[in-house]
Amino acid sequence: MTSIALSSAAPTGLKVDAVVVGVAPGDDDVVLLPGSESLDKALKGSLARLLGQLGATGKADEVTKLPAMGAAKAGLLVAVGTGPLAEAGTPARHESLRRAAGAAARALAGQQSAAVALPVLDEADAAAVVEGITLGAYAFDQYKSGDSTTPVRSVTLIGPGIKAKGVKEAVARAETVSAAVNRARDWVNVPPRDLTPATFADAATKLAKSAKLDVEVLDEKALAKGGYGGLIGVGQGSANPPRLVRVAYRPSRAKKHVAFVGKGITFDSGGLSLKPADSMVEMKSDMSGAAAVIAAVHAIAQLGTKVAVTAYAAMAENMPSGSAQRPSDVITIYGGRTVEVLNTDAEGRLVLADGIVRAGEDEPDLIIDVATLTGAAVVALGKRVSGIMANDEKLGAKVHDTAGRAGEAMWPLPLPAELREKLDSQIADIANIGDRWGGALQAGLFLQEFVADGIDWAHLDIAGPAFSDKAFGYTPKGGTGAAVRTLVRLVEDVADGVI
Ligand code: BES
Ligand code: MN
Ligand code: ZN
Repeated sequence: MTSIALSSAAPTGLKVDAVVVGVAPGDDDVVLLPGSESLDKALKGSLARLLGQLGATGKADEVTKLPAMGAAKAGLLVAVGTGPLAEAGTPARHESLRRAAGAAARALAGQQSAAVALPVLDEADAAAVVEGITLGAYAFDQYKSGDSTTPVRSVTLIGPGIKAKGVKEAVARAETVSAAVNRARDWVNVPPRDLTPATFADAATKLAKSAKLDVEVLDEKALAKGGYGGLIGVGQGSANPPRLVRVAYRPSRAKKHVAFVGKGITFDSGGLSLKPADSMVEMKSDMSGAAAVIAAVHAIAQLGTKVAVTAYAAMAENMPSGSAQRPSDVITIYGGRTVEVLNTDAEGRLVLADGIVRAGEDEPDLIIDVATLTGAAVVALGKRVSGIMANDEKLGAKVHDTAGRAGEAMWPLPLPAELREKLDSQIADIANIGDRWGGALQAGLFLQEFVADGIDWAHLDIAGPAFSDKAFGYTPKGGTGAAVRTLVRLVEDVADGVI
């Protein structure tokens, strides 16, 4: 990952390859943001006009490159748009900075070093810029045989508030969280022939052990013996058998306990209810929820947050074959409830049901599940917003607020009780599909059935944001690491008594 240093020197004097400054929309030319003063002075006050002539407007995601022409030791100047910048201390400001830093980091690919002189006024601004840089500089080149453009290696952060109280700690936290997001992205991007439930479980185990966390992996034999009918049913058509991974973080003096459950379908072909070819291509990302919960619990342990966390990753490959489950089969979820599988492509809820029931046995205060669960959530909210469903409206609102502060776009959706009857089965306790209308909500209602009484529960449907078809801001094309930042912040909020 890109290494970060802090400096209060003027960006013009630093021995780096490039200097990044921020610009916002103005009446005539762009408005130069604090941090760019020395550079503008070296250019005799002409920087804003120069950028205007090059077409810069200051809008978000806009990058304008120009040669420094001796105005700085660096050869390259990069002006990045922030859009209108909100006041200090607001999530909107932090997200603008995060996005601008991300766009700049992407534009810096191929450079060794850079000074980033964005308007960092306090520790939260610094954290946002560091997240933007480290997330924007992400590249996945494991499968490229030739030389590929490498991300910027080192960045020196400069800004008016760089010496402010708490900046160092905030930067360290941001680096830990970004590393977790990038780790989740890597897992999502690895092709499904290499990331099977078994290899994914091995990688999760290795990571968890590196932080001295307790890990337990149930293989297909243990799952069958334990009665995990969801994972067994979904995985039975595949040559790559399922796994349930449990990672436990138990800090001393923890007063609360949060459980995560992640959907880990390493490839979703739909099973015998086969997907059309075009819908299948992105389905290596159907394990994004599992990647998020494993990466998040590891980051939380590194940060030392005083809350017990147990992460469950329910891993299976959904394939059609002679041994696959059939539409109309009835399976028994862990704990004994039966499900009529009317559509084998509604598999996420089956493996999550096993995970949610198992998580409930630990008697956590709160269960959060994360899943690329429904195309309906993408239809409702688009590719950039995740859905939040909860068994308590206030909890949903709190998770929404937490996500906003973490810089992730999520939106509360209802769980209307009257939709539940659509899932009624003729022969089993519940069916795994209802009808077309409100598909994301029906999936949420299905999951809710498996939450033990008295436990708070929220469900994050990340089907849209988990995988991006284009790069923007600090988000790369491909796996995005959706929900990791929200999960980490959420547990911090639990520690702080906000949730
Ligand atoms: N993994 C998919 C959901 C999905 C769709 C994620 C698009 C990301 C992008 C899930 O397993 C699925 O296939 N859901 C079905 C449910 C239906 C059969 C009730 C869907 O959404 O079509
Ligand atoms: Mn599916
Ligand atoms: Zn799926």
